[in-house]
Amino acid sequence: MSMNSKNINSLYDSIDKDRLPKHVAIIMDGNGRWAKNRFLPRTAGHREGVERVKEIVEVSGNLGIEFLTLFAFSTENWTRPKEEINVLMKLLVEYLRKELNTLHDNNVKINILGNLEKLPQLPREEVYYAINKTRNNNKMVLNIALNYGGRSEIIKAIQSLIKDVQDAHVAIEDIDENIFSNYLFTSNQPDPDLLIRPSGEKRISNFLLYQIAYTEFVFTDVYWPEFTKEEFYKSIIEFQSRKRRFGGV
Ligand code: IPE
Ligand code: IPE
Ligand code: MG
Repeated sequence: MSMNSKNINSLYDSIDKDRLPKHVAIIMDGNGRWAKNRFLPRTAGHREGVERVKEIVEVSGNLGIEFLTLFAFSTENWTRPKEEINVLMKLLVEYLRKELNTLHDNNVKINILGNLEKLPQLPREEVYYAINKTRNNNKMVLNIALNYGGRSEIIKAIQSLIKDVQDAHVAIEDIDENIFSNYLFTSNQPDPDLLIRPSGEKRISNFLLYQIAYTEFVFTDVYWPEFTKEEFYKSIIEFQSRKRRFGGV
């Protein structure tokens, strides 16, 4: 056995399988810098990033993570050069076309956080097809945050809620955290237990603002294209070393 696989196995063995995070969220950041360090175009970083998506989705399923949320494209990412946005959309389509059958065979349900109406037609249709095909799956939910912004999610939730109040479906005095959270893209899902951000940045960048009230954060310096399952296992071990108090003693 190589040293490398020995390390991976011992990391895997260090994970307490009875105390796994139910919901892991990841800000997949650092593709551009990874590429720049190798004198490659930024898009080469995005391409390598897709390889990590495949790897982390697979090991999450194997571990028994119930909800995996990946931040793929933010509402602010539209400000990037058009060519880069086109490549990101193309990679999304490629990913879904290549991986959908495997995801489906592994009983993964694809769910989107974000407003799909703003996506170009091809990725939009590909995404709707994937959602529809996997809608009855129940081993793991794969949330892909696409054209996602935390503030816009909250505002959209408020708009829908007000409409339901006006239509007398909800009484104002009944509105509580539970009801409100069901107007978010993550309705009926537990809040993330663990949020991972690679790339050395220590900020939230408008991700899951409402849902992260008591989430544990793990920041790591590796760029997303180098965030292998080994890094993922390390993040889970770090999570398991934390004492979560939720405001108690
Ligand atoms: C994350 O990598 C991918 C997306 C935001 C789509 P970046 O493209 O942000 O890479 P850096 O942060 O510039 O290195
Ligand atoms: C966050 O990364 C969005 C995604 C990973 C999709 P950004 O690279 O867009 O965030 P900032 O600009 O560093 O805050
Ligand atoms: Mg970035």
